Amino acid sequence: MNPEDLELGDRTLAVDLKRRRLLTNATTVVGAVGVAVLTVPFIGSLKPSQRALVAGAPVVVDFGKLEPGQQITVVWRGKPVWVLRRTQQMLADMESARHLERLRDPASDEQSQQPEYARNPARAINPDYLVTIAICTHLGCVPSFRPELAPADLGSDWIGGYFCPCHGSRYDLAGRVFKSMPAPLNLEIPPYRYLEDSRIEIGSDNA
Ligand code: FES
Repeated sequence: MNPEDLELGDRTLAVDLKRRRLLTNATTVVGAVGVAVLTVPFIGSLKPSQRALVAGAPVVVDFGKLEPGQQITVVWRGKPVWVLRRTQQMLADMESARHLERLRDPASDEQSQQPEYARNPARAINPDYLVTIAICTHLGCVPSFRPELAPADLGSDWIGGYFCPCHGSRYDLAGRVFKSMPAPLNLEIPPYRYLEDSRIEIGSDNA
């Protein structure tokens, strides 16, 4: 898939522009105000501000041009973090009783996996936007973004989610792991807060 470039804030971000039903194994690309690269050089060669970012300084993300169904990946504390703009259909599909009963922790009772303000069905401050660390809770692989409906390899009841290629763990579009998967926990939600309607800061919050 060839991601197209979008201007988000003052940075050029590579964003997956394909619609939900067309997306396959979406690989999204880094974009964040203050973060420009995935490959981090040796820390000793970094300028002070870069060292602060790697060490854990908050990262500001402007996603004003993200359209429903699109996702970008940013880097915070050296970890990939997804920002997904969910469609209303995605949110509705995740509310069905049939879907919820397939999840290991649908109500996010595992408190370590999200801040309190993201402990809700959408696991988000604003349900339209999922912000989650893109690291499988089994052994740390990066899952694939699989938003399409019922793809042949994931089955007729797949309503969109994330699939870990390492050992097959499946998560929904709120990062909630399905039952009987190798991964024991939902994906982690980092601390974050809204600066504006389409700007968040990852790594700090108002809690
Ligand atoms: S690392 Fe994801 S399933 Fe094992």
